[in-house]
Amino acid sequence: MDIFLDSASVAEVKEAAALGILSGVTTNPTLVSKEGIDFRSGIKEICSLVNGPVSAEVVSLKRDEMVEEAVDLAKIADNVVIKIPICEEGLAATRSLKDHGIDVNMTLVFTVNQAVLAAAAGAAFVSPFLGRLDDIGDNGLERLADMVQALGNYDWDTRIIAASIRHPMHVTEAALIGVDIVTVPFKVIKQMAQHPLTEKGIDRFLADWRELQENRKMEGQTVAG
Ligand code: E4P
Repeated sequence: MDIFLDSASVAEVKEAAALGILSGVTTNPTLVSKEGIDFRSGIKEICSLVNGPVSAEVVSLKRDEMVEEAVDLAKIADNVVIKIPICEEGLAATRSLKDHGIDVNMTLVFTVNQAVLAAAAGAAFVSPFLGRLDDIGDNGLERLADMVQALGNYDWDTRIIAASIRHPMHVTEAALIGVDIVTVPFKVIKQMAQHPLTEKGIDRFLADWRELQENRKMEGQTVAG
């Protein structure tokens, strides 16, 4: 399973990339606006820091405008992937971009049927939003499992990105389901690395090691005395 960072923060991308676990980044207009970055230069910098796809989202709603915007965004860097919301206009734009060799991450996907349409339109990635499904009383992980099964029944090249991740259990369950990619907020990546028994174990190892050094020192003093 590849791990992507779900963030438009250059500082977070640098930190996550330095951990050696990062295979890509996803952004969206909300994340970009939260960081207050200049969109093009921010995406360009993020692309230079990551050896993998970086999703940048279009804001147009008509297919021709989406394509125009996407072609322009794709010029930012070789690893830019265009995020397009699932809708009829988005599907048509995705097919057209696929024919031009530009990869699309079809976003805001909530049902198997939407995922199937995205795959049929040639999307390189499809992003089901787990947390937002949970928010409305649905079960994001069950929908994800359905999509993994449905797309796995056929030969589409579309890779599924589990998105809208809210906590480490989302990642655990997505991994058990066997999703291709999970895009994770930095806070959750940090939580994934932690366990109280790991911290307790490190403290204990260090305390025992210090005690051994102290004992050796005291034994040396006794022999010398
Ligand atoms: C994914 O590509 C989206 O950027 C993101 O996961 C949305 O998450 P949210 O529902 O927490 O805003």
